Amino acid sequence: MPRPAAARQIPRSIRSPPAPRLTGPTAPPPAATRMPEFQTQCANLLKARFPLLYLSTWEEERALAAIRAIAQDPALIKTPRTVYVWKQTTGLSADGRPGREETRAPVKALEVVEQTDEPALFVFLDFHAFFGGPGGRAADPAVVRKVRDLVPALKNARSPKNVIFLSPTLVIPPELQKDVTILDFDLPTFEDIKQVLDAMIAANRQSGRIAIELADEDAERLAKAATGLTLQEAENAFARAMVQDGRLDAGDLEVVLEEKRQTIKKSGILEFVSSDVDMASVGGLENLKRWLKRRDKSWLDAARRYALPAPKGVLITGVPGCGKSLLAKAVSASWGLPLLRLDIGKIFHGLIGSSEENMRTAIRTAEAIAPCILWIDEIEKGFSAVGGGNDGGTSTRIFGTFLTWMQEKQAPVFVVATANNIDGLPPELLRKGRFDEIFFVDLPTRAERVQIFRLHMTRRLADATLIDGFALDDATFSALAAATEGFIGAEIEQIVISALFEAYFEDRAVRLDDLLHAVQNTVPLAVTQSEQIRAIRDWANVRAVAATPREHREGYAEPAAAPASAAATSPASAAAALAGADVSADPSAVDVASARGGRTVDF
Ligand SMILES: Nc1ncnc2c1ncn2[C@@H]1O[C@H](COP(=O)(O)OP(=O)(O)OP(=O)(O)O)[C@@H](O)[C@H]1O
Ligand SMILES: [Mg+2]
Repeated sequence: MPRPAAARQIPRSIRSPPAPRLTGPTAPPPAATRMPEFQTQCANLLKARFPLLYLSTWEEERALAAIRAIAQDPALIKTPRTVYVWKQTTGLSADGRPGREETRAPVKALEVVEQTDEPALFVFLDFHAFFGGPGGRAADPAVVRKVRDLVPALKNARSPKNVIFLSPTLVIPPELQKDVTILDFDLPTFEDIKQVLDAMIAANRQSGRIAIELADEDAERLAKAATGLTLQEAENAFARAMVQDGRLDAGDLEVVLEEKRQTIKKSGILEFVSSDVDMASVGGLENLKRWLKRRDKSWLDAARRYALPAPKGVLITGVPGCGKSLLAKAVSASWGLPLLRLDIGKIFHGLIGSSEENMRTAIRTAEAIAPCILWIDEIEKGFSAVGGGNDGGTSTRIFGTFLTWMQEKQAPVFVVATANNIDGLPPELLRKGRFDEIFFVDLPTRAERVQIFRLHMTRRLADATLIDGFALDDATFSALAAATEGFIGAEIEQIVISALFEAYFEDRAVRLDDLLHAVQNTVPLAVTQSEQIRAIRDWANVRAVAATPREHREGYAEPAAAPASAAATSPASAAAALAGADVSADPSAVDVASARGGRTVDF
């Protein structure tokens, strides 16, 4: 599809801040971009005579172009409509003709809507100003009332008519909640962005001001890197890449990515996480790793041949400090997909926008960036208030938005959610069809502790002169694993660090004793939080799959039969004896350390 908008050229002098939009009043409007989903959805709502639609987007011009395209397309909408646009500055006008002066008053404009007797679409820009706002701004009661009065008139009019509110922010006064349908305007597709880039390249090639040294696949990579941005933001990112050194080449990928990171960060809800953690940096949890491995590449076209649905995601619950967050990061690196972190707390308590809008923005951005991993850390913090809240049902509604999305999403956005406190999780979230699987990460077993010690010790003791009297071999790791029954991964890492501190302080190499000493000085979480661990395990035994495979749980009591007496010969008591740790003092702690939870379903 041709893009008539003038492409942006980079002048000799470097501008900052970004250049003014070229799509100003004199520039031709941008072509409606291809967005079949939005088009059909919007057209269906219009045909079905939904009286009031609300589109929240910064991309006013692109949205207007899309609406105009729908209104003129008989294949989509049956009866083509005249599109009227209302702005406070110009009043209600069609086809760029100036409107009548008096329609600048919102109530007057709504009266015209009521009286118009032709198939029409009325787009009101920035009407949120009359709907009140999060900052305590009051709604205009006369306007709100007039909009309500309009609803039956629109529904029963002889000619089809609808009103669309188009604003950068979503504000719906309570009186209108039931009458307004929120419509999501998708971010530009890869193709849209590629067109902008191509146009910019062509324009700057002609002018010769910027050296363009870009192979076709590099251009594609640049455009791909800008997905998730609005067209304007993408254009700014490319412009920045060009002016930085007067050339556009493959090396600019990082500039575009950085610009995107910034832009997404500014939205305040999502954050790009660049992580170098791969699966090999996570000790144990082999069952979960295997399950994930089977889902790698499932977003590729090749998977369609098998008619596979796009994987929805995984919920990882468990004991704190045992590698849940670590694993979420590792999925991204091992699948080679970008990792977006969603801060669920900020959705509800963010300073920007309404909670509902925040959730929609986050989803939309993740879908535009897809394929990607959406990591929701500590999901319970956001959703546990659902149902019991006194926030006028906001959290319930947002939760509903999220659930519906999880259920229906087609875009390859793989959700990795983690939770410690499962009490708060609403049962709907756990229903089949939301997450593909729920895993439980328990205290690492002895076999897993061997791996965790190996990981942290080989990483931190890479310099052989730092080691005194022991080797980085299985015998050492096994001895340490035996001495640390009931320890979590984070405690194991801390033990290695403390030993290093000790040695550094005394200006010598690390001895095995330093490590064992640190073990003795640690009161593990399994002791201080044994009740909580027991509770979460009880929960998980019915609902979640053990992240640890059976072969690594040998010697531990299985969920159904975890007898208190198992302590006598369990690895726990052996370890406690070896380490002389506190574990032996508390029989209930030994019990916690000698069993492992979660259903055994090995993949
Ligand atoms: N299985 C493991 N393998 C390697 N290191 C681990 C493992 N588990 C924990 N660690 C170490 O402990 C640190 C904390 O782990 P992580 O943040 O993944 O825990 P978590 O399960 O997300 O805990 P929380 O519930 O408190 O968020 C990690 O950065 C890592 O160094
Ligand atoms: Mg965590």
